[in-house]
Amino acid sequence: MCIDRLSLEFALEPRPLNQFLAPATVHGFFKTSRLQMAISTLKSALLVESDSAQASAVKTYLERCDFAVDHVPDHARAFEAVSTGNYDVAIVELAGGKACDLELIQYISRNLIKTATIATTGSETSKLGALALAMGARTFLMKPFAPDDLGEYVRRAIEDNKHAEEAFRLARIREQERQSRKIVGFSVTMRSVMELVASLADAPDTTVLIKGESGTGKDLVANAIHDATFGERGPFNAVNCAAIPAELIESELFGYEKGAFTGAFQTKRGTVELSDGGTLYLDEIAEMPTGLQAKLLRFLDDKSFRRVGGSTVLKVSLRVIAATNRNVEEMVQRGAFRRDLYFRLSGFPITLPPLRERGSDALDISRYLVERFAKRHGKQIRGITPQLEQLFLAYHWPGNVRELQNLIERAVIISDQPWLDTQHVRFDGAGRPEIDGSSKQDALADISLPLGRSYLKEIAFYEKELIERAIREAGGVKTTAAKLLGISRHAFDRVLKRVDRLTGDRAAV
Ligand SMILES: Nc1ncnc2c1ncn2[C@@H]1O[C@H](COP(=O)(O)OP(=O)(O)O)[C@@H](O)[C@H]1O
Ligand SMILES: [Mg+2]
Repeated sequence: MCIDRLSLEFALEPRPLNQFLAPATVHGFFKTSRLQMAISTLKSALLVESDSAQASAVKTYLERCDFAVDHVPDHARAFEAVSTGNYDVAIVELAGGKACDLELIQYISRNLIKTATIATTGSETSKLGALALAMGARTFLMKPFAPDDLGEYVRRAIEDNKHAEEAFRLARIREQERQSRKIVGFSVTMRSVMELVASLADAPDTTVLIKGESGTGKDLVANAIHDATFGERGPFNAVNCAAIPAELIESELFGYEKGAFTGAFQTKRGTVELSDGGTLYLDEIAEMPTGLQAKLLRFLDDKSFRRVGGSTVLKVSLRVIAATNRNVEEMVQRGAFRRDLYFRLSGFPITLPPLRERGSDALDISRYLVERFAKRHGKQIRGITPQLEQLFLAYHWPGNVRELQNLIERAVIISDQPWLDTQHVRFDGAGRPEIDGSSKQDALADISLPLGRSYLKEIAFYEKELIERAIREAGGVKTTAAKLLGISRHAFDRVLKRVDRLTGDRAAV
């Protein structure tokens, strides 16, 4: 268990929260002090000390300060004690500069974040003290020292440790947030999306329109644009136009003056004002009421506006990112969305392709998600089996990355094996994808051979049936029907034409 070599370079690594305190001087052995009172609310200490007289003096002192003290004479028993005990402080004697004692300090500081350690040394040089600090001790004391002085060291060590623990906790939360905002994907389209995101950092007031099916990562990309442009320096505020009643969107965005309408008891700043110096994310922009679309267009022109019921013109500097999963071009043609606003918004368009069109991105994203969720749920899961990978590649992912994410998290939770396999997953979309021939045989059970028509014609009749069903389910909208079949609109038209020709009839109207 001992560390063989401890190099001085390692020992001198900077540890900002450690304090290299001067050794104490001997005075007033059992004097009760204010410090004693200050530490009296603290509870437990581990004392590792080979000299029984010294141990007894320190133990008595700490007990008078309301500590429950466990005394052990050597590092071996100390390891046993820390594996079961939960100490506020461990006072560890570095007897003769043995590496085992240093290792004990290192073990405690790495694994028992709640426990502050203090090293005590005999006549050794301060180099040993420096090593103890490098291993994670909060401070070190040279013997002999007065237990009274120990009180001061204990109090400070525990306080420093609390700060370090808090900083560690915050860093872990930030890391988790950063991880959950990571965009994974190496497909050509996703790489070009990442390039666009990076290039937007130099144009902080360019308006961006993100298009893509639900779950393709629009929010994620909006956040990435914000992070690349403003980072923590500016606010990021999102307004979901579909989630707010139409009549409230204007005051939500632009705020209102006191008395502007019944119930406006106080002037309120809107999201536009609150986003000054950062990003305003308008999610589901297609749901914005047409009346307000004109106001938004005017705002986008010079970023100036009035609060509802106000006369003062206010001005902000921010980036607007709009997002939609609707076919806005088609809405423009129907007159359901203002053409001028659409052009204004789509100056910098980003289209996120559905997951089924991103090649092996689904596999890269699943590997990343397995790791993330395994960590979150404390599971030892190494990845997914080739069989499950095949299913992932065959599936049409109607819910895109969001669906993949939910599926992986569920699988990680229920799995008790190191590799996620097909039995651990349940697909939300229409049924499970087929990668072997077993169920296709069932589907072909009622075909009699030899075929009555040519092979290609026979197949075309099956395609026709499939296409007609998709068109029916899509309410006659061919673009949606193509989506239901997991092919592009262009491919859909080609199939339709071929099927028409082979069946000698219109497959779908
Ligand atoms: N490329 C990606 N890599 C990793 N996670 C992703 C990716 N795309 C989307 N996600 C995750 O999938 C979920 C859905 O993404 P979101 O941005 O909310 O989609 P949308 O806004 O398009 O509906 C989020 O939890 C997001 O973090
Ligand atoms: Mg979204």
